Amino acid sequence: MTVRPDVDEHRGAPDTVVVAPLAQVAGDGGQRLADLVGRCSPGTLAARFHTAAAPQADRVVASLALHLASRTQFGVVVDGVLAGCGGHVAAGPDRVEVAVLVADPWQGRGLGRRLLRHALTDPGWRGREVVAHVRLDDERALRVARGVLGEVAATVVGRRHDGTVELRAAVASRPLLRHPTEIEELP
Ligand SMILES: CC(C)(COP(=O)(O)OP(=O)(O)OC[C@H]1O[C@@H](n2cnc3c(N)ncnc32)[C@H](O)[C@@H]1OP(=O)(O)O)[C@@H](O)C(=O)NCCC(=O)NCCS
Repeated sequence: MTVRPDVDEHRGAPDTVVVAPLAQVAGDGGQRLADLVGRCSPGTLAARFHTAAAPQADRVVASLALHLASRTQFGVVVDGVLAGCGGHVAAGPDRVEVAVLVADPWQGRGLGRRLLRHALTDPGWRGREVVAHVRLDDERALRVARGVLGEVAATVVGRRHDGTVELRAAVASRPLLRHPTEIEELP
């Protein structure tokens, strides 16, 4: 597989993990998306799309493929296998919505957190409101969304009537200082 040098790559035992634009890692026409969805349990698919029952796999593949070419969508590849995907889509002029999916065999290994972080390094959403919708009972997703959004802006959480919560972070138009040693020049 060929990936651009700007990808977030980490080599270490036992896995090689690559986060790269989805179009680069999903295979021709996104055929690897079907394999990814095939590795997800019904519960995982239901959690991703906030449905009570699992959505049909072919519909999930079609839905993920809709954003295949978007530069704000990323895939995470573990030892050459597409293990997850996610990113953000426009949800209004000043709003983007983030969503992430990690297939069951790789959950709980930090990949969801990493994918979301990677998506939020794109400067395109700065100055906008970033929202994530997560099912109220999805503690893992809540933890990841709250944690990563909280790294970039104060996060507001609101309960919605459909059993999901909305996490909102109004992101500054300039990058936040990551470390106390990064000192900005004052005008
Ligand atoms: C939500 C999801 C993307 C998270 O990805 P992941 O790779 O499994 O998660 P990570 O390993 O990065 O992080 C898991 C976090 O949840 C915590 N966690 C794991 N299992 C948990 C559980 N059962 N209950 C509560 N927290 C849990 C971990 O401790 C970790 O938090 P920490 O980093 O603060 O220690 C993934 O589980 C998934 O695809 N779920 C189904 C789809 C979904 O819900 N998407 C979100 C809505 S769009």
